[in-house]
Amino acid sequence: MTETPANPPSRRAIVLYGRASFDHGQNLKALASALAAGHAARDEAVTVATAHADLSGPALPGVLADLARDGVTEALVIPAMVPSDPSLSAWLPGALSHWATTTGTAMAVRLAPPVESALDLPAALDRIALNCIAPNCNAEAPADALAQDVRETEPSLGKPGWSAIPEHGRQVFVCVGARCLHRGAEPLYQHLRAAMKGHRALNAGPRRAMCARTSCLYPCNRGPLLVVQPDAVWYGDLTPAKIDRIVTGHLLSDTPETADILHRNRPVERAEDAPMG
Ligand code: FES
Repeated sequence: MTETPANPPSRRAIVLYGRASFDHGQNLKALASALAAGHAARDEAVTVATAHADLSGPALPGVLADLARDGVTEALVIPAMVPSDPSLSAWLPGALSHWATTTGTAMAVRLAPPVESALDLPAALDRIALNCIAPNCNAEAPADALAQDVRETEPSLGKPGWSAIPEHGRQVFVCVGARCLHRGAEPLYQHLRAAMKGHRALNAGPRRAMCARTSCLYPCNRGPLLVVQPDAVWYGDLTPAKIDRIVTGHLLSDTPETADILHRNRPVERAEDAPMG
């Protein structure tokens, strides 16, 4: 997805890195067009591309590879998420460095500070681009407003701790899809988190349980709902009282309240369980 100004193609590019799940990237594309037009108006030939951090792609590595293939020699990545994602700084510099190292690209890749203001996004992005992209690098700009060469960061696809699979005995998946949210899923999720936090056994040891939000799990008419894995036990029409019973009965004592259970999936019959011969 590239928006190229009318000027001759440049060897510099900006990649706006944002979310697409909200509107299939339409807003990000509009921001890219505005940014490209601003550069064209100043007679600066810069290609502006978009990459998505969520569901629908294109993801950053593919977009950067396309730019490198098109002959771009300098790419500036600007995180353009609103609200910004604080976890980006923990992994994106290393992941970009990893991409640059493993692909052996000759293209310079720099990472700009994330956009901070949602009030006038086009202006905020233009400011970041002006501070960060040569030859307009602003000598007056503070260091944290400038882009970093990603190769200065150790290549890595994530923090070392992110390789360890957590020792959770159970996972509780709470649906926060649109229908369940409409039926009050979010405060119930918070209630569940608070209830689980209050029990030491659920935070360490064999009963340790993880609680996560998911998108639609399908039986929306029974929402708000959750499923406890690996037990494959579903609970629907959640209320705070039902959640308390799930925590004390199911998670802490392995004795789920039968009347509360919406459904139990049949266990998968594995090949090794099947009778021989
Ligand atoms: S939105 Fe929750 S099951 Fe569909």
